[in-house]
Amino acid sequence: MRRRMIAAASFGAAVLATSAVDAQIQNTTILNPRDLRPVSSFSGIADKTERSRAIFNEVAKVVTNPRCMNCHPAGDIPLQGNDQHPHMPPILRGENGLGVAGTACASCHTEKNFTLVGTGASYKSIPGHPRWQVAPIEFAWEGKSISQICQQIKDPNRNGGRTLAQLHDHLATDDLVAWGWSPGEGRDPAPGTQAQLGELMQAWIDSGAECPR
Ligand code: HEC
Ligand code: HEC
Repeated sequence: MRRRMIAAASFGAAVLATSAVDAQIQNTTILNPRDLRPVSSFSGIADKTERSRAIFNEVAKVVTNPRCMNCHPAGDIPLQGNDQHPHMPPILRGENGLGVAGTACASCHTEKNFTLVGTGASYKSIPGHPRWQVAPIEFAWEGKSISQICQQIKDPNRNGGRTLAQLHDHLATDDLVAWGWSPGEGRDPAPGTQAQLGELMQAWIDSGAECPR
């Protein structure tokens, strides 16, 4: 009798273990944070407003990623790394986001990513782009909820005067945004691809550009 109970208990544990593994497999195929869900996966949400909100939550996976957020800080100092620590060495945004005299962004950040070899530094490359600079303070996302970022990003008074179509084009085609997927040695790229982000933005606009609550 006692043996039977032990056998039953371990059988139960085995069943539990298998379903835990199943759940894990599903999570990694569907919810890997490095992937973006395709637009088609939202078609099951019949309510248009809810569908739009769900799509924005997917867009937000990119927008809130450190590769984007680090340049859209709430203060005067850009952020670095996946842990989003204040920029080292300490530097300031300056009047136009290009830095201040002596520590202009371009004095260290060149036109393209620069891979370091054998320097012993804790980082493997210095990011680069011809327009490397901090996003204007009105475009700060750091510390804001997804709902707040959504409201801000679609408000022409706070997004550089862009219509929804222009906002789409910026996210889908801008070459500084594109840096997020080619961030240089030693940095994790933003999730999915820029093309997928463009498709999600279009689907979000087509479904009413609703913001999550
Ligand atoms: C090197 C710093 C830098 C990085 C990295 C960066 N941005 Fe920006 N971003 C800027 C600057 C500067 C502007 C303002 C220029 C403009 O409006 O064209 C801007 C403007 C924007 C705007 C339009 C204004 C707004 O807030 O609605 C969006 C949207 C945007 N960025 C999205 C992104 C996304 C998404 C990523 C990551 C994939 C990203 N940015 C990465 C610096 C950066
Ligand atoms: C004195 C040199 C220097 C100056 C000046 C400088 N940076 Fe940097 N920056 C670096 C180095 C080196 C790294 C790479 C460090 C790392 O990744 O840990 C870096 C990394 C970054 C990152 C991190 C990217 C990421 O996703 O992790 C951002 C954002 C950044 N810089 C923005 C700026 C901006 C904007 C300016 C001008 C306002 C600027 N930096 C000025 C040296 C500098």
